[in-house]
Amino acid sequence: MKVLFISENLEDQEQLKRMIHVKNSKLEVVAAFNVEDAMSCAASDGPFVFFILDCDLKDSDPNALGLNLMEFTGEKPIFFFGSEHNIKDRIGQDLFNFHNLNETLLKPIDRDDFGANLGQNLDAAVIHMQQEMQEDSIQEIDADEYIPMKIKSFYLFNRFPYDIYMAITTKSYMKIISANKPYSISTLSNYARKNVKYLYIKKDEQLKYLENESAKCINSYESGLLADKDIYLALLRGITILHQYILAIGVTPTVNTLADSIAKTVVDHYKNIKHLPTILAQYPNFYGGIASKSLLTAYFSQAFARGIGWESEMTTKKLVVCAALQDITLPDESMNKITSLDSDQLSDYPPKEQDQFRDHPITAAEIARQLTNYPDIDFIIEAHHEMPCRNGFPNRPSASKLTQMNAVFNISAYVATIIDGEEVSQNLYRKAYYSLTAEYNQSSFKEIIKEYKNIFAL
Ligand SMILES: [Fe+2]
Repeated sequence: MKVLFISENLEDQEQLKRMIHVKNSKLEVVAAFNVEDAMSCAASDGPFVFFILDCDLKDSDPNALGLNLMEFTGEKPIFFFGSEHNIKDRIGQDLFNFHNLNETLLKPIDRDDFGANLGQNLDAAVIHMQQEMQEDSIQEIDADEYIPMKIKSFYLFNRFPYDIYMAITTKSYMKIISANKPYSISTLSNYARKNVKYLYIKKDEQLKYLENESAKCINSYESGLLADKDIYLALLRGITILHQYILAIGVTPTVNTLADSIAKTVVDHYKNIKHLPTILAQYPNFYGGIASKSLLTAYFSQAFARGIGWESEMTTKKLVVCAALQDITLPDESMNKITSLDSDQLSDYPPKEQDQFRDHPITAAEIARQLTNYPDIDFIIEAHHEMPCRNGFPNRPSASKLTQMNAVFNISAYVATIIDGEEVSQNLYRKAYYSLTAEYNQSSFKEIIKEYKNIFAL
């Protein structure tokens, strides 16, 4: 259990840390010196049982900081630490009454009753936290009522419209995040570190969620109001929803509209910027995974297609839809980094998943066939791991059977795999170039490799 203490005074921090440790050795005190520190701890270090906010802060407004913390972390008690007049003058009634366990801790720390006062408030906050956890505790319910969602997809949000559960056994689920309450990425990464791959929402809420999120994505793309830096996250959400929707329900009219809207947004965004290195420099590499690799593939394919003179809206949009669907049937998110059946990494997976990996271009192509607005994309997806030297999979056709469209797409997917999740640099682009020339430098693929070299001025 953690406590966040925000104060500019190092001595007070040390003293309070010691006192809290004596009162309850299970409480760990995380210290922050200013607003920036405090918000970054709240985002990455939580969850916190309560906050201690020094109201004598000189460089920041403690009331605004307190309200921000509540907005960001949900309702938690705050202990207002400071002189009586500063607490009275600087903390508004709204913040003071935000939580019924909010209290004052009057300075100085060495006054006689400070320890007792701290101990009482601290016990009340801990009991409150334990009660909250109890309410959310394990529920024995029919497993069919829950729908798994990859833990990665929750990284794209900081609050979620439905309760989120974790499976304890196949029959018991524990609520770990309440609907509409803010959560931090660290909360999720703590579970991911414990090898939790899926979190669950209730089945009857799933369709509502997919429909609402699809509509939100489509509206945000069509509004034309997204700044460059926001477009990537909005597109990553869109691709993630597209995957979830197709895998859970299948291809519906909403799926078709969403796919079309994603394709149009990428095509138009690339046309506006026309410079792949600029896009990659802006791109948030934090979200690496299937959705992110798909989006990078889409941008690479735009650059190559435009580079060799393809202007058709239909063709450039097709490339984006292929990029979005290529890896939709992979059984494990981490498999998107594997590019060959001979890879050592592949042998780490169970045999059934290895088979699913080998067949994923075929199963993804079957799905692609259902998106009737985009005819003939299935052959691009089925061949997305093929190589002109016949080292690819699953069909290993001769180089002459692979078209220029295959060359554009396969090279896009290959370099996107190398770049996804990495900090971009000329070195990384060069490394990908050497890999490309070693694996693909034949027939129509040569021209695309030349394009790659031009784009990054190698
Ligand atoms: Fe793939």
